[in-house]
Amino acid sequence: MNCLITGATGEVGVRVTRLLLKSGLRPRILTRNAKKARALFDDNVDIFTGDLGAPDALRPAFRGTDAVFLVNVGPQIPERDRAAARLARELGIGRIVKLSSLDVEAGLAIGAWHERGETEIRAAGVPFVFVRPTGFMSNFLAWAASIQAQGVVRSSTGSGRRPFIHPEDIAEVSVVALLEDACLGRALPITGPDSLTFAEATMLIGKAIGRQLSYQVISDEEARERYARISGSAEETEAHVALWRAIREGRLAATTNTVEQILARKPLSLRQWIAENAQWFCASEALPPG
Ligand SMILES: NC(=O)c1ccc[n+]([C@@H]2O[C@H](COP(=O)([O-])OP(=O)(O)OC[C@H]3O[C@@H](n4cnc5c(N)ncnc54)[C@H](OP(=O)(O)O)[C@@H]3O)[C@@H](O)[C@H]2O)c1
Repeated sequence: MNCLITGATGEVGVRVTRLLLKSGLRPRILTRNAKKARALFDDNVDIFTGDLGAPDALRPAFRGTDAVFLVNVGPQIPERDRAAARLARELGIGRIVKLSSLDVEAGLAIGAWHERGETEIRAAGVPFVFVRPTGFMSNFLAWAASIQAQGVVRSSTGSGRRPFIHPEDIAEVSVVALLEDACLGRALPITGPDSLTFAEATMLIGKAIGRQLSYQVISDEEARERYARISGSAEETEAHVALWRAIREGRLAATTNTVEQILARKPLSLRQWIAENAQWFCASEALPPG
């Protein structure tokens, strides 16, 4: 089985690649940053340098591949999914496993970009699996700076809940989708075990690092202003503000049992993710990369 992993230097793709290596396979990976990929995987993978925004250059990586794990980011997701799917179809690739989003079901924000991407892949006629995770637990790393410096988390999600998922669960489900046929043609809505408020998540981080943290509710305007400082575009900023509003309104709180159905075990808890990552929130430590 010859798998091509895109996004292999990112949160989920790096875990997918490591799981494939553990199962004895030698994946190909596509990256814009071969040096970073070599530092992560040494000589254990075949590295192809390319940009998903420049599909003509993707042929060498796609040719001879049985399955592609497709990670596209940002407002260009639909066009990039379309280009990858058409190339996969032309080259007779057996399947695309797309890292999508559970927010497709709510049809909002970043989920709307993924929904259009999924539509493009279906239209191209290539066999597919759409892995649809809810918010990643690793998103909490974005809180590291304000927790370290001020002991504060600020969010416009109010008391809304989100069933955060451990990135390892996303990767394990994705590997099943890549290697087994049972999920072909399906969309897999995956969540963690518990739907928690951001205040509860803040409290769990505080407990793990032995520090009382405060959770401050901010307005959409303040959230927009803060995110705009680090955002790639106004479109991405608005997508995030809309996402946080939907969480506040209770629209993204439902859990699913898909992880348990596919992996025959419970999804990993936020407590476990925090135990693995507590050092990033301690004032004496460096900030997480990225
Ligand atoms: N975070 C969440 O809560 C959440 C929830 C649901 C769905 N998602 C979806 O998950 C995906 C992000 O996954 P992630 O967090 O694992 O990734 P990530 O950590 O944000 O890393 C992004 C990856 O994409 C690659 N990449 C970006 N632009 C590229 C381009 N033009 N050409 C080739 N590769 C490119 C990067 O590779 P190089 O830099 O090495 O080229 C990197 O490996 C997005 O589609 C997002 O919408 C996220």
